[in-house]
Amino acid sequence: MPDPLTEANRAIHAWIGARLLDHLDSLTALDLPTAREHWRGLAAVIEDHATVEDALVFPAYAALGAYPVTGLPALFTADHQLVRAGLAALGEQLAGLAEGPDLRRKVVLGLDRYISFRHLLMHHTQRENEIMYPRLGEVLDEGVRAELAGGLMGAHDQVVRDVVGVA
Ligand SMILES: [Fe+2]
Ligand SMILES: [Fe+2]
Repeated sequence: MPDPLTEANRAIHAWIGARLLDHLDSLTALDLPTAREHWRGLAAVIEDHATVEDALVFPAYAALGAYPVTGLPALFTADHQLVRAGLAALGEQLAGLAEGPDLRRKVVLGLDRYISFRHLLMHHTQRENEIMYPRLGEVLDEGVRAELAGGLMGAHDQVVRDVVGVA
């Protein structure tokens, strides 16, 4: 049976992946206001989730020891740094777009960076869902696990309500 921690992370990352596609749908339709609205929610949710993980989940994982070589705690921290750098670069790129005859070409030229970001998120999601969260699920007491899962989902629902307007 899947543990609630991995399931919570899976659900949050699924929301992020779906919202990134919503953003790209709007962007490639050259609908800048909707693309910006989707981006605002996406960036807020990613930043919030990474902050909660940095504060609660990564320290719990770092205390376990005996990591597989592909699951060293420093790799997760480095992933979050890359995700934040990607968010900043894409946010800047989006802010630089404006209505006009060359908008489509600028959107097309900007797609490379989105593909890299999408791959980075997919890679990080896989590392978390296949290594870190299942390991925490195995080791932590049921009560601690449920509390952590509740903390992750609670923070996610809150930021979605506050920034996007629905949960
Ligand atoms: Fe995560
Ligand atoms: Fe993460």
